[in-house]
Amino acid sequence: MQSYMAGRDMITTQEWTKGELETVFDVAFDLKRRRALGESHALLRDKVLAMLFFFSSTRTRVSFEAGMAQLGGHAEFIDSRTTQIAHGDTGKEIGEIIGRYCDGIAIRQCDWGIGNAYIRGVAEASRVPVLNMQCDYFHPFQGLADMLTIFERFGRDVRGKTINVSYAYAASYQKPMSAPQSLILLATRYGMNVHLTRPPEFKIMPEIEDQARENARRSGGAFEVLDDFDAGFKDAAIVYPKSWGAMLTTTDDAESAKIAKKYTDWITDSRRMALASEDAIYMHCLPADRNIEVTDEVIDGPQSAVYDEAENRLHVQKAVMALTMR
Ligand code: CP
Repeated sequence: MQSYMAGRDMITTQEWTKGELETVFDVAFDLKRRRALGESHALLRDKVLAMLFFFSSTRTRVSFEAGMAQLGGHAEFIDSRTTQIAHGDTGKEIGEIIGRYCDGIAIRQCDWGIGNAYIRGVAEASRVPVLNMQCDYFHPFQGLADMLTIFERFGRDVRGKTINVSYAYAASYQKPMSAPQSLILLATRYGMNVHLTRPPEFKIMPEIEDQARENARRSGGAFEVLDDFDAGFKDAAIVYPKSWGAMLTTTDDAESAKIAKKYTDWITDSRRMALASEDAIYMHCLPADRNIEVTDEVIDGPQSAVYDEAENRLHVQKAVMALTMR
């Protein structure tokens, strides 16, 4: 068990060892148990987390704020549009200055080709841990919450379990590919049989696919890319169909939306769920476009794990904050 993570950034789980991730999950389970019992766990008393958002959020904002309060500290909400960031505060200045005021800096910056580089720039200038609340490439806390949920349902040894991480159609906006990329990187480290199912125009980053293949080789798992929506469901224990944009095909939002229209049939319904294992669970990081990405019947049905998954954001985030910000 790795026990010293003070000062570490969490930008992608790929930069944390398996031992460190095991500690995160152990601590997350313990903090979840302590909260269920009503036990105080003020591990970050007097500490302050700055939360800088360039993009809207429901779950991430509320769970980080609640988590810091439960750990005895405080979280500050900072909106890029209503601060001097909109007038030119640079990433270096944010890292230097906010790092002197606060004990951690959490950032959501999802702009394609910008977000990850921005977060890394802040981290380089900051003396305190930088936590990635979602960028264009990674959504590490979503990936950790997804894995915690899978461990709760299937046990900690998930080697050989099939997970289908799939594109689904959505009409609302070109969503980042960071959640599926983070989940694929984690599931392959845990020896799972990982399917990535997507139309040809909705490729994920080739370097992430390479890392997933290498993770699978090391863990004894498997990583396979499919392009048939129904085939991805077949015999999967976990199905995770969600939308993302065609950023690797076009950076034009209107063009991406036009391409997506070819795939309006990529909706998860009860017929598709029946193709998966009998005890399969449905997962989605939310928000989902209801009756476009997934039918109400499935997302509100007995196989859906979406509310446990959303709750688990709180527990994994508290674990990483407690380990890094002490
Ligand atoms: N899953 C997720 O990150 O939700 P929010 O966008 O609401 O934070």
